[in-house]
Amino acid sequence: MNITVLGSGTIGQSWCALFLAAGHRVVAYDPNPNMQQQILDAIARAQSTLDALGYPGSGCSECLEFTTDAREAVKGSRFIQENAPEDLSLKHALYQEIETALDSDAVLLSSTSGLTLGELQDGLTNPSRLVIAHPFNPPHLIPLVEVLGNDLTRSGLVPEVLGFYESLGKVPIELKKSVPGHVANRLQAVLWQEVLHLAKEGVASLPDIDKAIANGPGLRWAVYGPNQLFSLAAGDQGLLGFIQHLGPSFENWWSSAGQVTFDDDTQRLIEQQYVDVNGLDTEEMKRRRDQIICQILSMKKAT
Ligand SMILES: NC(=O)c1ccc[n+]([C@@H]2O[C@H](COP(=O)([O-])OP(=O)(O)OC[C@H]3O[C@@H](n4cnc5c(N)ncnc54)[C@H](O)[C@@H]3O)[C@@H](O)[C@H]2O)c1
Repeated sequence: MNITVLGSGTIGQSWCALFLAAGHRVVAYDPNPNMQQQILDAIARAQSTLDALGYPGSGCSECLEFTTDAREAVKGSRFIQENAPEDLSLKHALYQEIETALDSDAVLLSSTSGLTLGELQDGLTNPSRLVIAHPFNPPHLIPLVEVLGNDLTRSGLVPEVLGFYESLGKVPIELKKSVPGHVANRLQAVLWQEVLHLAKEGVASLPDIDKAIANGPGLRWAVYGPNQLFSLAAGDQGLLGFIQHLGPSFENWWSSAGQVTFDDDTQRLIEQQYVDVNGLDTEEMKRRRDQIICQILSMKKAT
């Protein structure tokens, strides 16, 4: 299948690596011609990960075409993954440029993290072919894709898009309603708020709270979500049994949860407590993070 990637920065490059590894032909577009080499570098970097995850064509760049012509890029493609910068007027201009060059059954998939489907649809004459398909960075590694259509979306398109990502080995979920930040980023944001609140209250330091998450619930969250985990915690009583047992405690913790902003106090706290990232080899840390996630995913698949 031909797949087009529009915008070949951080997210676009990673999508390119995945689509190619899954055996598809990819046409990548970016107005910046230097991105061609960056895509090739990203494909090479992703190769060992995609190999380990069992993709047949990892590292293959023969089926990649690069162009700085957006209209050329979309011709003949059924699925078009758009990863242009997070700027509504820029995305609208891009949609306007490509719309008349799209195949009649082409599907436009936007990776947007923060723009709403309604806002994006305003940039198209035919909004029925547009779906939000939000990946978690990096898309070639993290399985989650959040998929959102609405009343204007062509009937049957959302299930088709869910099937498309499943065919790539991803784990798509359907969002039934538009909400800022979709689901996963909102959950991260709420957790981080309480992390900062606890540190501000002097309950524990930021590095120790990171340790608590990575060595406690974070390990279980890579296996099951909280509903499943809590239902396992109540023996054969299920989730409602868990609530009978611990519901009042949770309500107490919820009512004492904090709200923070990134005011001067919060920023000072981060400066004082957070490890000096300048002293760390962040590229090496990212490499290790991705290597461990890859091993977890391989183990989940094998178990
Ligand atoms: N970075 C993340 O963690 C992340 C995660 C999920 C989703 N997203 C979403 O993915 C999209 C892209 O984000 P990114 O982090 O890859 O950005 P980025 O800045 O790394 O890449 C954007 C690319 O788009 C190119 N570009 C500039 N003008 C363009 C145009 N008119 N048409 C097409 N491409 C153009 C740029 O040259 C650049 O290569 C955004 O909508 C963002 O919300 C980002």
